Amino acid sequence: MDYSIETLALDKLETDCIIIGIYENQQLSPSAVLCDKLSNKIITQLIQRGDINGKNAETLLINYIPNSTINRILLLGLGEKGKITEKLFRKALSSAIATIKSEKIKSACCSLLEIEVKNNTEQWKTRQIIEVFNDAIYQYQETKSVKESKTELKSVSIVATTDIKPQAELGLQQGIAIAQGIQLTKFLADLPGNICTPSYLAEQAENIAASANKMSVEVLEESDMEALGMGSFLSVSRGSRQPAKLIVLNYQGASKEKQPIVIVGKGLTFDAGGISLKPGAGMDEMKYDMCGGASVLGTLQAVAEMDLNINIIGIVPSSENMPDGDANKPGDVVTSMSGLTIEILNTDAEGRLILCDALTYAKKFNPEVVIDLATLTGACLVALGRVPSGLLGNDDELCNDLIHASETACDSLWRLPLWEEYQDQLKSSFADLANIGGRDAGTITAACFLSRFTEDYRWAHLDIAGTAWRTGVNKGATGRPVPMLSQYLINRANA
Ligand code: BES
Ligand code: MN
Ligand code: ZN
Repeated sequence: MDYSIETLALDKLETDCIIIGIYENQQLSPSAVLCDKLSNKIITQLIQRGDINGKNAETLLINYIPNSTINRILLLGLGEKGKITEKLFRKALSSAIATIKSEKIKSACCSLLEIEVKNNTEQWKTRQIIEVFNDAIYQYQETKSVKESKTELKSVSIVATTDIKPQAELGLQQGIAIAQGIQLTKFLADLPGNICTPSYLAEQAENIAASANKMSVEVLEESDMEALGMGSFLSVSRGSRQPAKLIVLNYQGASKEKQPIVIVGKGLTFDAGGISLKPGAGMDEMKYDMCGGASVLGTLQAVAEMDLNINIIGIVPSSENMPDGDANKPGDVVTSMSGLTIEILNTDAEGRLILCDALTYAKKFNPEVVIDLATLTGACLVALGRVPSGLLGNDDELCNDLIHASETACDSLWRLPLWEEYQDQLKSSFADLANIGGRDAGTITAACFLSRFTEDYRWAHLDIAGTAWRTGVNKGATGRPVPMLSQYLINRANA
């Protein structure tokens, strides 16, 4: 897809379709007023006839305009003027792109920067247009023998007046970078587990690093992890024929002295549960258990593309979790890199077993903060559903910064408590701690487990089990929380 900024007047645009906004109760946006003039009052007539009222996400495509240079106009309902929230703006954009797709439109010009939104910066609005459109256009094709595209859209330009062009250009650049990061994350996540193995993810990380000049990569093999004492991580991969990888990406956008932000993503390329085998129904979705890792790769690619002046380390511990003669057994005790011993009471609580060693490894980078992302608990779906990602952490400022970023990015988070009292649920008679904490508060006890390995730095954990992919007929990865993380990193770079 080709995205650009356009400063020509509406009647000079060479496009299949101009997208303009209509406020609820028949209020026209400035572009709508202009198009109305250029189309012999067709818009006011359609509104008077009651064909469109301007309710949020309403659309009306005017397919032919007699005696006009304009080919088509897509009228887009926005809602009441002055009351358009970020979410409503995005909802309207989703609806616009759905119509563009189904009507087989090849090029579109979006004249929506003039629309009043709560977050009213041109940069933000430009970014959202690109993110929402690109998200809707994504289509997984890789393993289909017949490739059929559901859209003919090839180019989108965003109409800006010359005075706001610089802000729109910055929004365009960031929007493309983030949208492509999301796209990469979705693609890697949607790939089946027999293709997207730990080795495959490591190769992708190498490609990302090779195409960005401030990024380098190191892939630790099982023998390296053995030498580091990562007994917990390696106990999970022992049950798999696929060798585990610890992928470490290093983006250096600021001076070496500046402490890095470390992001760690769970990269379970398939989670069968191990000896504590999962039930068969829906088990295919456990190919998505690497979404945290894929989000780390997508975010780092976006950061490099945006050329942010911060240092970031991306760590992806990657493995499969399979049943096997050599797999972890319930009751086994393993020793983590930190020295803490862990009693594995359920081999399906494997995410925390690989993450704890990656989180210990993170210390060597002298991090400013560490953020981990993981499809960690089914309990998070029970607690929060598929709307926000779960957020837990040992630092209020970091948690608040992430929540702030999530609001700007429309990629929501909800914080859960990480109180001391919950730690008791992890007591073990045979090791320093158990890897499960019983039925109650499963998302919190999983985070409690991780917190035992993150005491030396400021840390936040995102449980993305409910948000990283959609289930059902529209099954597919969402690319979350790449939008929130990218926003957080932009904010940090600007701070
Ligand atoms: N990857 C799963 C969590 C998961 C399950 C995410 C379903 C999304 C949908 C994780 O490894 C897991 O199996 N967790 C167990 C933990 C339990 C054994 C304490 C779970 O949630 O059932
Ligand atoms: Mn599991
Ligand atoms: Zn898992």
